[in-house]
Amino acid sequence: MSENKKYYITTPIYYPSGKFHIGTAYTTTFANTIKKYRQMRGYDTYFLTGLDEHGQKIQDVAMSRGKTPQEHVDEMAVAAKELWAKMKIDYDDFIRTTEPRHEKIVEQIFETFMKNGDIYKGEYEGWYCVPCETFFTPTQLVDGKCPDCGREVKMMKEEAYFFNMKKYQDRLVKFYEENPNFIEPAFRKNELFNNFIKPGLEDLCVTRTTFDWGIKVKSDEKHVIYVWLDALTNYITALGYMSEDEERFNKYWPADLQIVGKDIIRFHGIYWPIFLMALDLPLPKKLFAHGWIMMKDGKMSKSKGNVIYPETLIERYGLDATKYFLLKELSIGQDGLFTPEGFVERFNTDLCNDLGNLLNRTIGMINKYFGGEIPEKPQNLTNLDIELENFVNEKIKCVENELDEAHVSNALEEIWQIISRSNKYIDETMPWSLYKEEKTEELKDVMYHLVENLRKVAIMINPYMEETTPKMFNQLGIDNENLMTWDSIKVYPEYKDIKVVEKGEPLFVRLDLQEEIEFLKNEMSK
Ligand code: MSP
Repeated sequence: MSENKKYYITTPIYYPSGKFHIGTAYTTTFANTIKKYRQMRGYDTYFLTGLDEHGQKIQDVAMSRGKTPQEHVDEMAVAAKELWAKMKIDYDDFIRTTEPRHEKIVEQIFETFMKNGDIYKGEYEGWYCVPCETFFTPTQLVDGKCPDCGREVKMMKEEAYFFNMKKYQDRLVKFYEENPNFIEPAFRKNELFNNFIKPGLEDLCVTRTTFDWGIKVKSDEKHVIYVWLDALTNYITALGYMSEDEERFNKYWPADLQIVGKDIIRFHGIYWPIFLMALDLPLPKKLFAHGWIMMKDGKMSKSKGNVIYPETLIERYGLDATKYFLLKELSIGQDGLFTPEGFVERFNTDLCNDLGNLLNRTIGMINKYFGGEIPEKPQNLTNLDIELENFVNEKIKCVENELDEAHVSNALEEIWQIISRSNKYIDETMPWSLYKEEKTEELKDVMYHLVENLRKVAIMINPYMEETTPKMFNQLGIDNENLMTWDSIKVYPEYKDIKVVEKGEPLFVRLDLQEEIEFLKNEMSK
C-alpha cells in the first residue's frame, strides 16, 4: 500500500427536519469508523458529511415552527455539528446545500445539462409523495401509496424540466455488468438492477414550481431545482468541482466509498451515476447500502413513542458503548433491532464480561505475580502459544479483510473472537496454578501473550471506540507510540521496564438489567 493513497468517503446529507435519532447517527458513525481505519492504514482520507437543506418538507417544518426556512436550517446545522462533536465524528468537511459554494455550482451543472441536451422542458403529471418529494408511476406505488414511506400520494400536474435518463440506459446497464461489485450487498444491487434498471428507466423530473425553497433554474426562475439533483451533487461541489480551485476535487474524486441507507439506494445507484456520466466524470468506486435500525414495533417514530436519541445513550452509557452497539447490531446490509434488553445485554456481555474482565484479570495477575511489570518476550514458545499466535494472526487478517470491505460488524465479531480466545487461554493455562507450582517461565509467557492480545485488540478497536483504546494503553502502561500503530499488530514486540497500573478502573461498569430497561423505556416514551 502506498503511503499517500487517497480515500474519499461520504455519508448522505441529512434532511434537517427534526432531531437526529440513533438511525441517522448510525451512518455517520459507520463512515467515521472506516475513515479512522483507513487513516491508520496510511491513507490520505477525506470524509464528507452535511445537510440537505432545501425542499418542501423543510419549508413546511420551518413554517410549523414559526421560522423562516433559513432560520430553521441554520439552527439545525448548529445542532447537527454539536451532535457530531459529541460523537467525536472527525469529518473533514460539512456541506450545507444552502451554501453559495454549492448553490452556484448546482446552477452551473443544471445549465450544462441543458446545453448538452440532457435536460428538456415538458409537463409532468403523476403521483407525488410530499414528504419524500418524489413522483411515482402508478406501477411503482404499493397499494396506491408511496413505496418508500407508505404515505398517501397526490395526483399532480406541472410544467417541469426533465432529465433524459433513457439516453443513458445502455451505458448504465453496461456499467453494472462491468462492475458487479459497485453496490454492496449484492442482494440490494440485484433488487435495484432487476426492478428498476432492467425494465427501462423513466426520465426524471428535475424541477418543481410547487414550492420555492430551493435553487432556482438560472435561465427560468420560476422553476426550482428538484432536491435530488441538488442533493446528490453535494459530493462533488464540496470538493470544489467547477469552482476556481479544483485541486481538492482532482485529488479526491472519484469517491472510494459512499455509504447510504437502503431507502436511498435508487437515487445513488441510478440518478447519481447518470448525472456523473452526463458530466463526463468517473463514477464512485463503491456504494454501500446499509440496513435500518428498527424498533420492535417497526420504524422509529415520535407518534409511536419509540424513538431513541444518541445523546440519551451517550450520556448514560458513554460514547464507546453507544458506538459499539450501533456498529455491532447491523450485520452487512441487514436491519438491526434496538431493544433496551438487547442494549443492556451487549453492554454487560461483550463490553463488561468479555473485554473489561480480560483487561482487569490480566492487570490483576501481572500485579500479583510480577509486581506489575510486563514480562519480557518469551524465548521458546509452547505448542499452545504457537496455536494462540496463529489464531490471532489469522483473526487480524480477517479483521483487515472485513474492514477493507467496510464490513464493520463482521470485523467487530473477529476482534471479539480474539478476546474470547484470550479468556479461554486463561482457563487453559491456569496462571494461578503455575504461580503455586512456581513455574515462573510459563507464567511469564502466559502474561506476555495476554498483554499482547490486549494491545492488539486496543489498536483494532480504535476506529470504533476511540475513548477505550487510550484507557487500555494507559492501564497496560504502554506509552510508546510505535506500539500503537496498526502495523504493530503484526509483530510481537519486546517489553522492557513497562509497568501496568496498580489497580485498573473497570472499562465498563456492569448495568442492572431491570433498572436500565425501565430507564430506556421511559426515555423512549418521552
Ligand atoms: N437527504 C436525503 C439524502 C440525500 S444524499 C444526497 C435523505 N436524508 S434522511 O435524513 O432522510 O436520511 C439520511 C440517511 O439516514 C439515509 O441513509 C437513511 O437510510 C438513514 N436513516 C434514517 N433512518 C434510519 C434508521 N432507522 N436506521 C439506519 N439508518 C437510517 O434521505
